[in-house]
This record gives sequence, C-alpha cells and structure tokens, in this order.
Amino acid sequence: MTHDNDLSRIGISLPKNLLDKFDDILEYRGYSSRSEGIRDAIRSYITYYQWMSDVKGDRQGVITMVYDHEHRGLMQILTDIQHNYLNVIQSSLHSHVSHDKCVEIILLRGDAGIIKEIAERLMAQKGVESVKLTTIAIED
Ligand code: NI
Repeated sequence: MTHDNDLSRIGISLPKNLLDKFDDILEYRGYSSRSEGIRDAIRSYITYYQWMSDVKGDRQGVITMVYDHEHRGLMQILTDIQHNYLNVIQSSLHSHVSHDKCVEIILLRGDAGIIKEIAERLMAQKGVESVKLTTIAIED
C-alpha cells in the first residue's frame, strides 16, 4: 500500500510565466515551499476530476470559459465545438475582458456525460485559459 508520506521525486518543465504566476500565488498564500504548493495543486486537480466523474444523469450546466481571442483560429474552433452540440447548448454570453481576453458563459441542459465532454473539449484547446463547469441536478 502506498501512503501519502511515501514521497516520489519528479522533475517538470514549465513555461516561465506560468511558474511566475504560480510562485506569486504561493507567496500570497504563505506556502513554505514550492513542493507543498504543487502537492496542493495536484490534489485540487484530482478532486475536481473525481467530482466531474461523479456527475451523472440529466443536468442543467453552466460553463465559464476564459480565453485569448487573439490565439490564431481559436474563436473558430470554439464556435465549431459549440455548433456540434446544438441540442445541449441553450445559450451563451460573451464579454470582452481586455484587449485579448474574452469570457464566455455557456448554458447547457442534457446528459451529464455530454456536458462534461463539451467542457473537456473546450478545455483542451490551446489559448483557453480556464474552463469551469458547474452542474445542477434537474428535479421534477
Ligand atoms: Ni471578446
């Protein structure tokens, strides 16, 4: 059995700006080491995916997505993905955050598996900064 205190050492490569942002957050939150921050970040990532895989059945969903609209071809890809799920996506709201940043809120209703598939496809695109999914159970 593997315990939390059996430590494995890994080496990772990160873009400098990503690491700088991460370090800023660690400093702000008072972490004693980068390793501790990375462990916490990985735990949150795992919790989020476990939560995502527990979502089942018919759901009302809300996706909040932040992306760089100057990223070549990205807006077209994001629109194409959404057009592939006409019967699940009810509506979307777009706001221009800054010169190159946009936020989009997408309302969905349908099978949880499809809703998660859409969130994951959006998330996988280069230039998409973040995708957050919230779902609500539909009760009759
Ligand atoms: Ni915009």
